[in-house]
Amino acid sequence: MRSETAQLIKLEDYKETPYVIENVSLVFKLQPEATEVISTLTLSRREGTEVGAPLELDGDELTLVSVAIDRAVLAEEAYEASPKKLVVHTPPADTFKLEVVTKVNPTTNTKLEGLYLSQGIYCTQCEAEGFRRITYYYDRPDVLSVFTTRIEADKATNPILLGNGNPKDAEDIEGTDRHFAVWHDPHPKPAYLFALVAGDLACTSEKYTTASGKPVDLNIYVEKGNEDRTDWSMDSLVRSMRWDEKVFGREYDLDVFNIVAVSAFNMGAMENKGLNIFNDKFILADSDTATDMDYEGIETVVAHEYFHNWTGNRITCREWFQLCLKEGLTVFRDQEFSSDERSRPVKRIADVIRLKSRQFPEDQGPLSHPVRPTEYKEINNFYTATVYDKGAELVRMIKTILGADGFRKGMDLYFERHDGDASTIEDFLKCFEDANQLDLSHFSLWYHQSGTPFVKANGSYDEAAKTFTLELEQNTAATPGQDEKKPFFIPIRFGLVGPNGDDLAYTSVEGAHVDGDLLHLTEDKQTVVFQGIGSKPVPSLLREFSAPVKLESTLSREDQIFLMRHDIDPFNRWQATQTLMTELLIELTNGEEPAGKDAFIEALGHMAEDENLDYAFRGFG
Ligand code: SER
Ligand code: ZN
Repeated sequence: MRSETAQLIKLEDYKETPYVIENVSLVFKLQPEATEVISTLTLSRREGTEVGAPLELDGDELTLVSVAIDRAVLAEEAYEASPKKLVVHTPPADTFKLEVVTKVNPTTNTKLEGLYLSQGIYCTQCEAEGFRRITYYYDRPDVLSVFTTRIEADKATNPILLGNGNPKDAEDIEGTDRHFAVWHDPHPKPAYLFALVAGDLACTSEKYTTASGKPVDLNIYVEKGNEDRTDWSMDSLVRSMRWDEKVFGREYDLDVFNIVAVSAFNMGAMENKGLNIFNDKFILADSDTATDMDYEGIETVVAHEYFHNWTGNRITCREWFQLCLKEGLTVFRDQEFSSDERSRPVKRIADVIRLKSRQFPEDQGPLSHPVRPTEYKEINNFYTATVYDKGAELVRMIKTILGADGFRKGMDLYFERHDGDASTIEDFLKCFEDANQLDLSHFSLWYHQSGTPFVKANGSYDEAAKTFTLELEQNTAATPGQDEKKPFFIPIRFGLVGPNGDDLAYTSVEGAHVDGDLLHLTEDKQTVVFQGIGSKPVPSLLREFSAPVKLESTLSREDQIFLMRHDIDPFNRWQATQTLMTELLIELTNGEEPAGKDAFIEALGHMAEDENLDYAFRGFG
C-alpha cells in the first residue's frame, strides 16, 4: 500500500515510451544476499522522439553497480541513478545497447515482489510492478520485448534453473561449484511476465501433443516430498490445453510448459510466460486430505493461468487500467471451462453467489469503481472482485448478446488482430463490433460506470387481448465520483412459462428489442407488450443470471413455487428456491406459519428427483 500522498496515475495521461526495447539479455548471478543482475537492453529511439531525449527507467530499492552504453562505461554526469530511477540524460544514437549492473538481496526481500529467496528457493513475482525491483526497466505492460535469460547458481543447492520460454543451454561453470542455464523466450512480452526459479525441486512430467501435432513437455515442479500430489493439477493442465484448442482454437506456443508450486507466494498464482508460479495450495492435492472444493479450486486456477497464455500474454494490456482485459476475460474462460467439465448450472450458481457476496458489496461501498477504472494510486489495490468477477460478467453478457457464434467470431478476430499487442478494452469491443457488424457503444458503459443496477419487473396478463405486459425499470444508485447514472444496456434472458411448464411463444413484441428469449432493457423505464399469449404465463426473468443486476420481481409465492417445479432454466429454479426459502425462514423465525410451506417442501422434493436436472444440481439445489 502506498501512502495517501502517492502520485495519482490517470488513464488520460497515457503516453508511449520515447524508446523501444528491442531485446533484453539478462544474466543472474544468484547469491542469497547479493545477486548480481546484468541487464543488456537493445534500445531504439521511437519515431517522433527527439534525438537525445532522456531515457528514464523505473527502479525500486535497487543498488546500481555500473552503467555502460555500447560497452563504454558512462561518466557520472551522463546519468542519474537512485533506488527508484535511472536516467540517462542524452542517449547517443538511434539504436544503442545499455548495459546495467545492479545488486539485489533476495534473502531480505520479504515483500515477495521482484526476486526473493524463500525455503531455499529463488523465485520471482513481477506483476504488477515487481520487475523494477530486479533491474532498471520500462516496467509497464506496453513495452514488449524478447527476453534471453542466463541463470547462474550454486549447483548443489539449486540443481533446477528455470526461466521463461524454451531451454537453450545448460552446463557446469568450470572450476566452480556453480552451473548455468540459458532460456530464450521468442514471444515478445512485458516485464511483468518475466520469471525465474532456482532451487532443489522435485518434478513430475508428461508429454502433450497440440492439435496441430507440436510436442510439448509439461512439468510441474514442487518442493521435495510433494511430488506424489501433482496428479490432479497435471490432469487439469492437460484438460485445459485441450479445451482451449477446442473451444477457442488456441494452441500452446512453446516447447515446454513449466509450473512451479511454492509455499511462499503472495498471489494465488501467476501466468509468467511458459513458467507459471503457484502458491502450492493450488497445485497439491491427494485424496486423503483434499476436499472436493480443493480439487475444484486447483482445476480452476491451473486453467486460469494456462488460459492467460493467450488472453494476457500473447495479447496483453496497454496499461494497468486495462487489467480487466486480461483478468475479466480469463476468469470468463476458466468459468466456461469448469462449466464444460462439470455441472454448468451448479458452476453458474457458484459464480453468482461469489459475485453477489464479493462484488456487489464492493460496488455499494466506498471502494466502488468501474471495471475499467481511469485513475489509481496503487495498482495492487485494483486486483478486485470488480475487475475480475464483474469483468467476467461483462464478457459473458457480450456472449449472451451476440450468441455463441457471434462471440466466437469476435474472439477469433481479437486473436488475429491483436496477437502481439498491448491492447485496450476499446480494441476488444471493436472486434466484436466488426465481426458482427453491430454497435456496442451503449453496452460499453458497463466498463466505465460503476454500481450495481437495480431492476424492477412487474408483469400483467390481459386475457381478452391475449397480451402479456412487462413493466421494467432500472436504476443505479450514485457511487463515489459518479453522481448521475445513465441507463445500462441490460440483456435479460427470459421465458414466459405457460401452465404446462413450457415457454409460451409470442407473435410480436412492442416496447423493447426482443430476440427469441433475450430482451434488451436499454432505458430507465420500458413497457414491453407481448402479443398472442394464449394463457396466463409466469415470467421467468434473468435466466442464467444474464446480467449482474439486482432484480426485484413481484412474483407471488405460488408463482415462485411454480418456477421451482417447471422452469426450463435451472438457475432460476434455484433462484426461486432461494427467494422462497429466505422468506419462509424469516417467517418461521418470527413464529409465523408461512403460507405455501408444504407446497414449497413438495417442490423441493420434486426437484431432488427431477431427472431433467443433473445430479450435482439436485444435490446442490
Ligand atoms: N495475474 C495473476 C492472475 O490473476 C495474479 O492476479 O492470474
Ligand atoms: Zn488472472
